[in-house]
Order: sequence, then structure tokens, then C-alpha cells
Amino acid sequence: MLRDDALKGKTIVVTGGGTGLGKAMSTYFLKLGANVVITSRKLEVLQKTALELEKETGGKVLPVQCDVRNYEEVIEVFKSTKETFGDIHGLLNNAAGNFISPTERLSSNAFATIIDIVLKGTANCTLAIGKQWIAAKQTGTILNIVTTYGFTGSGYVVPSACAKGGVIALTRSLAAEWGKYGIRCNAIAPGPFPTKGAWERLLPGDLVKQFDFKNRVPLKRLGEHQELANLAAYMMSDFSGYINGEVITIDGGEWLQGAGQFNGLESISSEMWDTIEETIRKTNKA
Ligand code: HXC
Ligand code: NAP
Repeated sequence: MLRDDALKGKTIVVTGGGTGLGKAMSTYFLKLGANVVITSRKLEVLQKTALELEKETGGKVLPVQCDVRNYEEVIEVFKSTKETFGDIHGLLNNAAGNFISPTERLSSNAFATIIDIVLKGTANCTLAIGKQWIAAKQTGTILNIVTTYGFTGSGYVVPSACAKGGVIALTRSLAAEWGKYGIRCNAIAPGPFPTKGAWERLLPGDLVKQFDFKNRVPLKRLGEHQELANLAAYMMSDFSGYINGEVITIDGGEWLQGAGQFNGLESISSEMWDTIEETIRKTNKA
């Protein structure tokens, strides 16, 4: 979508960059000329992805092991990034943990685990890089991956909804507070984009057949990873330089379809509409 050198000279840290959507966005950042640091808990996964992406794009990838829940490990990520690539220009907070469950079945630790990965993890990375940028008088871009149920709420993923809602508040709050330092803070709320990590935990087993996400989307299809990567690259680039504090939805209209009171009438056939129209017209005349 963007011109070839749109991210040239930029260094971007992508949490959860070894798999799924983080990997897809990292790939496009590299194709557009950025250096990318991918980080998560599983070093072997990161190393494999790094080799694959360097081969595919010709760019430079640094894999660094880090649990975003641990602030000391986060600090080390930015330290090794600086040593390898110099200044850091962007942070993509993409790492997450999630699974479906009736809330009353959750232990306190299960709830806390999701909050810690998603909200505390995002806050840890944001705080660490923000302090560094402000002290060095450097500008930067923070992009957070949230979900549409971060603003609508959703049953069965309540810890995730709480955490993503918190990340949205963090995004808007820091956009206002850190704008003066030239630090932009935005978020993307994707609809359903199939990944192994999400589908195994949100649609395990036969649920994938019973609960087809496509049917919830007005466009009648799932998102393509490149479509999300296009938006993320734009948001990371200087082309979006005046966008700050936004939460941009990319979901084919999914959440609006769920919200609109009469959208379910889509299932009514043309013949049924004839009858309905006739009935209403009769009522109007009565
Ligand atoms: C109830 C569960 C559970 C389940 C784990 N727990 N799975 N409780 N139902 N299915 C409980 C455990 O018993 C434990 O509580 C606590 O949660 C922590 O579990 P651990 O396995 O010790 O945690 P950890 O090793 O840190 O793993 C975190 C994880 C795991 C979230 C549980 O799934 C993970 O590593 N996920 C990372 C990737 C991921 O989730 N990707 C999907 C992102 S999709 P007790 O009390 O027993 O100690 C997304 C949005 C998608 O975010 C939106 C789609 C439209
Ligand atoms: P995924 O492949 O499971 O990605 C999650 C990543 O987070 C993994 O690489 C995982 O790597 C990393 N991670 C988990 N816990 C971590 C921790 N404590 N510290 C560091 N890294 C950690 O799933 P995905 O679908 O690509 O999700 C990516 C992002 O998109 C998430 O923020 C998710 O909420 C969001 N999202 C996805 C969808 C969708 O339809 N797929 C929709 C809306 C939003 P390790 O296991 O190696 O740590």
C-alpha cells in the first residue's frame, strides 16, 4: 500500500512479533525498509521467525526473549535494540493472552494473568520507551493492538475485554499527555483475522464450525493479514503524522452489525418482505 521506502531508517519493536498478526505486521514493516525487533517469551519461535523474515524481505530482524509482564526484561529489550540498531522510532504493543471461559469459572489468577499480559505488559513497554524518548528528547510512535470488544465489552472474554479497554484508555490518555513530546499514541481494533494463537483459544475444536466469524461480518469474509499490516504500517509511518489518540477499527463492519438493533433482519427472505410490507401497509390504513 505504501511506497517502498515508507519506513526506511526506522527501528520498530514489535511485542508478540514471532507469530500471527505480529509476524504479518513485522513482515510488512521490513518490506518498507524498517529494522524490526521481535520479542515474546519463546526464543526458539522468535529465532525461527527472524531467519524466515530476513530471508523473505532482506531486512534486519533482532529476536529478543522477553515476558512483557516483567519490567526488567522489557528494559533489556530496548537496551539491546539500541545496541544493535541505534535509536528506536516505534513500539507496536501486540502481545496478548486470551481464552474463552464463563467468567465464574475463572480463578483469580486466570483473570490476573490476562490483565498482566495485556494491560500491564502494554503499560510496561510504553513506560519504558516513553521515559527513554522523553529523556533523550526524541519523538516516537506507539501503536497498540486492541479489540472492538475493548469498547463494546463482551461476555466469555471478560479479562481480555477489561484489559483491552484499559489499553484504549492508556492510548487516549497518553496521546493527550505525551503529544507535547512528539510522541503519538494510537490503537487499531481488528475484527476477526484468523491466526493459530487466537483460533485455538477462542474457537477450539468444533466451535470453529458452529461459530463462523464470517457470518458476523457485513462483508461476509474474515480479515486478511496484509490488510491489517497496511493500516499498521501507515500508522507507524510519518504519513499519519497528525493522527494521535485514535482507535481505528478494521473489522469489515462486524461490531456495528452486532450493535444495530434490526441488523438481524438480514435473514428475512424477499418473499417474507412482501408479506411484511403488506401487513404494515394494512396496519397503516386501519
Ligand atoms: C480457565 C484457564 C484456562 C482456561 C488457563 N487458565 N487456561 N482457566 N479456562 N481455558 C488459568 C490457569 O489454570 C491459571 O490459573 C491461569 O489461567 C494462568 O495460566 P498459565 O497457563 O499458568 O498462564 P501462562 O503460561 O502465562 O499462559 C497464558 C495464557 C496462554 C493466556 C493462559 O493461553 C497463553 O500463553 N496465551 C498467549 C497467546 C494468546 O493467548 N493468543 C490469543 C490472542 S487473541 P490457576 O488459578 O490454575 O493458577 C486475542 C483477541 C482476539 O487476544 C479477538 C478475536 C476476534
Ligand atoms: P498470537 O499469534 O497468539 O499472538 C500473541 C503473541 O503474544 C504471541 O506471539 C505470544 O508469544 C505473545 N505473548 C503472549 N504472552 C506474552 C508475554 N507474557 N510476553 C511477551 N509476549 C507474549 O495471536 P494473534 O491473533 O496474532 O494476536 C495478536 C494481537 O492481535 C493480540 O493483541 C490480539 O489481542 C489482537 N487481536 C487479534 C485478533 C484476531 O482475530 N486474531 C482480533 C483482535 C485483536 P509467546 O507465546 O512466545 O510469548
